[in-house]
Amino acid sequence: MKATHYRTLILLCNQLEGERVMMRSYRASDARALYEAVEESREHLRPWLPFADETFEEASDWVIRQQAAWLLRENLSLGIWEQSSGHFLGSAGLIPSNWQIGYFGIGYWLRASAEGHGYMSEAVSLLVDYAFSELGAERLEIQCDERNERSAAVARRLGFKREGCRRNDFCASDGSLRNTLIFGLLPTDRS
Ligand SMILES: CC(C)(COP(=O)(O)OP(=O)(O)OC[C@H]1O[C@@H](n2cnc3c(N)ncnc32)[C@H](O)[C@@H]1OP(=O)(O)O)[C@@H](O)C(=O)NCCC(=O)NCCS
Repeated sequence: MKATHYRTLILLCNQLEGERVMMRSYRASDARALYEAVEESREHLRPWLPFADETFEEASDWVIRQQAAWLLRENLSLGIWEQSSGHFLGSAGLIPSNWQIGYFGIGYWLRASAEGHGYMSEAVSLLVDYAFSELGAERLEIQCDERNERSAAVARRLGFKREGCRRNDFCASDGSLRNTLIFGLLPTDRS
């Protein structure tokens, strides 16, 4: 589904299932699992993401905001859960840049102990398939710090093309200016 005057009426699937991971939109009761994953992962997240030091209250607030953003179709965040254990692994989501033309960003992170197993490639692949087949996406985009090799590797593994690099466009948590890599994927890249 592409253009509609009322974004709140865009039909969304709130659960995606792969071989090893299940992704679903957030519930208020997910705050504890989210917080524990962040708490385990502070050093691992700090170089790349702004919420590495969040408190339980902030995690609870974030989950409720994601529910609101989902309803408004402003941000489609999903928790990632391991199918076999029901363990919370991390988060990924589609960030609508322009519903009219089907342009979405994709963001993601894993808890530290879940890194290195292919969970994120599986999760992002589910999002990519969903965006192209159900949301009529014409452009998907992943951005990451130029130094974030693991994040760039996820994009490359899924066939995203490196389109450019914005230099000195943000300030990292250590105060240094960084460059951002831009990766894009179009439906025609996959045919
Ligand atoms: C970015 C991030 C999600 C990447 O996680 P990741 O575990 O490297 O990515 P995947 O889950 O796709 O796993 C790929 C790794 O698992 C390995 N792997 C093991 N089993 C696998 C399988 N069945 N399928 C695919 N890969 C598998 C791959 O070889 C690869 O390891 P390698 O890079 O050492 O070769 C993670 O590093 C992270 O959360 N970083 C901190 C937050 C962050 O930077 N977020 C992105 C901001 S832009």
